[in-house]
Amino acid sequence: MSIIVRRAEPGDYEGVQKIFAGPKAVWGTMQLPFPSIENWRKRLSEPPEGSFSLLACEENEIVGQLGLHTFPNHPRRRHVGQIGMAVRDDWQGKGVGTALMQAAIDLADKWLNLSRLELEVYTDNESAVRLYKKFDFVIEGTLVRFAFRDGQYVDAYEMARLRK
Ligand SMILES: CC(C)(COP(=O)(O)OP(=O)(O)OC[C@H]1O[C@@H](n2cnc3c(N)ncnc32)[C@H](O)[C@@H]1OP(=O)(O)O)[C@@H](O)C(=O)NCCC(=O)NCCS
Repeated sequence: MSIIVRRAEPGDYEGVQKIFAGPKAVWGTMQLPFPSIENWRKRLSEPPEGSFSLLACEENEIVGQLGLHTFPNHPRRRHVGQIGMAVRDDWQGKGVGTALMQAAIDLADKWLNLSRLELEVYTDNESAVRLYKKFDFVIEGTLVRFAFRDGQYVDAYEMARLRK
């Protein structure tokens, strides 16, 4: 398996929509079922300033996505990046998430000079929490009834990685 990580381009919208059409990807993220291809087309063609969308590809097939959101217009939050990610359902547990997170941390540490990376993760999302802990994210607190998921409220951890 050879995973390549690259920047998302506007034409990648169908591959990205496929990731978020997977039930496991919906379960673990803030996305809704039945993602719209058109919404993803717009999102990739007009990314907000300071937003970096990375894709993991295996032989030109898009198998994972990571968004790193920064705050170029908020002087006091310029050191912060917020992360959200998903791996296509049939590719989870094969190291794709690890490759994406490594690329995002390299970008944040070595090029963007971000010293705090933060994210929210549902407390029952074991594989995600394990991935984040592997990269030195720590749990800072629990957000109670953070979101509604499949008929129930679910708590989330606020996790952050402070660059040493
Ligand atoms: C969470 C997610 C991004 C992880 O990506 P991945 O490609 O599956 O992760 P990797 O294969 O790189 O493995 C990361 C760690 O999780 C562990 N892991 C993988 N699948 C697991 C599972 N089903 N249960 C427990 N741990 C698991 C691996 O062992 C690995 O830890 P290790 O290197 O110490 O062994 C991916 O599973 C995913 O997209 N899930 C659905 C959407 C989601 O939850 N997004 C995160 C939002 S906060």
